[in-house]
Amino acid sequence: MSRKLLTVSCCALFVVCLTVQSHGQAGRPPAPQPPQPPPPPLGRLGTPLPTLNKAELARFNAGLSVFNEVHDVAAGLGPVFNDNACAACHTDGGIGGGSPRLVTRFGRVVDGQFDAMTEFGGSLIQVKGIGKLGTTTFVGEVVPKQATIVAQRRTTPLFGLGFVDNIPDTIFHQIADHQMLVNPTIAGRVNVVFDTVSGQQRVGRFGWKCQQATLHSFAGDAYLNEMGITTPLFPAENCPQGNCALLNTRGLPPEPNEPDNNDLFALADFMAFLAPPQARPNQQTAAGATIFAQIGCADCHLPILQTGPNTSAAFNQVVFTPYSDFLLHDMGTLGDGIVQSGAGAREMRTAPLWGLSQVTRYLHDGRATNLPDAITAHDGQGRAAAKRFSGLAKPQRDQLVLFLNSL
Ligand code: HEC
Ligand code: HEC
Repeated sequence: MSRKLLTVSCCALFVVCLTVQSHGQAGRPPAPQPPQPPPPPLGRLGTPLPTLNKAELARFNAGLSVFNEVHDVAAGLGPVFNDNACAACHTDGGIGGGSPRLVTRFGRVVDGQFDAMTEFGGSLIQVKGIGKLGTTTFVGEVVPKQATIVAQRRTTPLFGLGFVDNIPDTIFHQIADHQMLVNPTIAGRVNVVFDTVSGQQRVGRFGWKCQQATLHSFAGDAYLNEMGITTPLFPAENCPQGNCALLNTRGLPPEPNEPDNNDLFALADFMAFLAPPQARPNQQTAAGATIFAQIGCADCHLPILQTGPNTSAAFNQVVFTPYSDFLLHDMGTLGDGIVQSGAGAREMRTAPLWGLSQVTRYLHDGRATNLPDAITAHDGQGRAAAKRFSGLAKPQRDQLVLFLNSL
């Protein structure tokens, strides 16, 4: 059933069915596979797209140095922050990767409504402070005792995100409409957010909650909220533990810390031009790919997407394999309880599965140390697929895991 759905949805939307059709026949033993050429050598993660022109490559390198730059107080770091460089957290597999590094969010429910507790410095914690400045000592924030909800979020990898940045908004609406039509029990939701950089309402696709629509805006948000660096586009410094009076402390660098938004554009360039993870399919992984589609994993973890028309050849109608629909799904008890940028407490973005072989802790809070645990934790709209996984015979479960580890 699911494989049929997938083929239909894939064809209807993108007329790209190659990968899916090579997955074999549902309900029949797979036909003997013709010998396949060896997989191409694994492109090193953390390197630029091979399709960049010279000017784009220069922009990638300029962005890379901003991404690596270690900031100090004079350069605007803090007064509270989580770390002093983008590269401090985005490390695994190559520069721009994810890591098991977690950040903390908190909140509470008041009269049935989520309260982000900004007066206590919520919802995101900045764990470090810049220390003593004059008579003030800036310390890291802690979860206030009034908070009833505490959630951890794992650092996600940035490889290939330029393709995701260049998916037209209409495609996400089409995917959501299609899911609603053919399989409402798993249907995801588009999260329309205000994109600070363009000043437009756009489809959110980045972050565990689809909370940002573009890499530009995510860069500004991360500069501000992970590092405490303000820019003209993101000028409002975080009040340490909610105490805004502390921002008047003498000796803090002038606001905004950056005189212009150039760093945000450089950071967005670096991320956009980062090469995607390269899957390594082979004869052993083909069976797992079929099971993935058959038991409904591919209904949310869409294997194939395509960028829209673009003046840059690197992004012009490029077919890529993120294994995500980048929509919000109601994940029941797996949700992190945080309401953010239009995403509900139980709603989470379908985690892209490309590059999974580089990931060591799974799910938004890194709670799972192996893939079967990550799968069986799916609740809400993901529960039925997780149950079908648990119902598989051991060799088939192993085949699915083998496939996931080839991504
Ligand atoms: C303290 C660690 C830390 C630092 C420093 C950090 N990040 Fe992140 N990054 C994270 C975490 C955690 C997430 C997931 C956040 C979420 O979705 O709530 C994330 C997510 C992202 C995403 C979304 C990726 C996706 O899968 O959609 C982007 C883009 C990003 N970071 C860029 C940056 C940039 C640019 C910088 C530097 C300005 C930066 N990050 C600094 C930890 C960090
Ligand atoms: C209803 C949509 C949906 C279905 C169906 C679904 N998933 Fe997921 N999947 C998600 C979402 C949403 C997340 C992120 C959940 C979180 O961490 O809060 C996720 C996360 C994951 C992760 C963790 C990835 C990471 O980087 O941490 C893996 C692995 C995974 N899914 C595999 C599967 C497999 C295998 C199946 C089929 C048995 C499946 N999923 C079915 C939506 C779905």
